[in-house]
Amino acid sequence: MNPILFKNIVILTGAGISAESGIRTFRDQDGLWEEHRIEDVATPEAFARSPELVQRFYNARRAQLKDPKVQPNAAHLALAELEKHWEGDFLLITQNVDNLHRRAGSKNLLHMHGRLDRIRCLSCEEEFEWTEDLPVDEDCPHCGIRRALRPDIVWFGEMPYFMEEIYAALDKADLFISIGTSGNVYPAAGFVSLAWKARKIEINTRDTEISAAFAEHLVGAASIEVPKLIQLLLDEEN
Ligand code: APR
Repeated sequence: MNPILFKNIVILTGAGISAESGIRTFRDQDGLWEEHRIEDVATPEAFARSPELVQRFYNARRAQLKDPKVQPNAAHLALAELEKHWEGDFLLITQNVDNLHRRAGSKNLLHMHGRLDRIRCLSCEEEFEWTEDLPVDEDCPHCGIRRALRPDIVWFGEMPYFMEEIYAALDKADLFISIGTSGNVYPAAGFVSLAWKARKIEINTRDTEISAAFAEHLVGAASIEVPKLIQLLLDEEN
């Protein structure tokens, strides 16, 4: 690392950062999409066609968050530590729908693809914290309508959350770090190009679809590479 002082940090994380916490990624060997077709479980059309199947898929993933073995790992913890000590702007954007960044202590955190531990009502649009299984015929706790509750997950074909906030942060970022994402899914895969004045670092166990857009590559497991990089950044700040 150059001993440059950065002010505005934007970090993007993907499934790879939670892999070592026991949560499967999507596109690696043994990834979730090997067993499920996206169009069967992760689109609004799938939910309209077969809500049972879709709820079952997300119920299983939600239940996994309660597994005592699933805990934030050293990479999640290091990001929370960086935020705590950083004097400039800091934004953590995650594509993950698990709760590991929050449990690690990250605060300025945007779940652009939604959250497994929330649901919302298609009828009244209320949102609720929800950590249990969600049966298809559950009544909405707010408006009482039946069969209108869905996971608060951004499905394929839907608009990710917080885009204005994200674009504004990317525009002024001077350091952009992408961790554990394959660069297959837009708009997140395009963030690196929008961080036009940032130094760009990619952390991944291997090359990705968007590796060429990064100036630096730290190749290795997130739990090792993220704490190392963050230590450097914090040392530079002091
Ligand atoms: N450390 C660092 N990187 C890792 C690790 C690890 N321990 N394990 C896996 N990776 C990397 C893989 O090499 C891969 O590039 O994490 C990436 C995971 O890629 P995907 O499975 O495609 O996950 P992600 O990029 O987050 O997917 C984006 O696609 O299906 C949708 O909505 C879903 O948010 C998700 C989006």
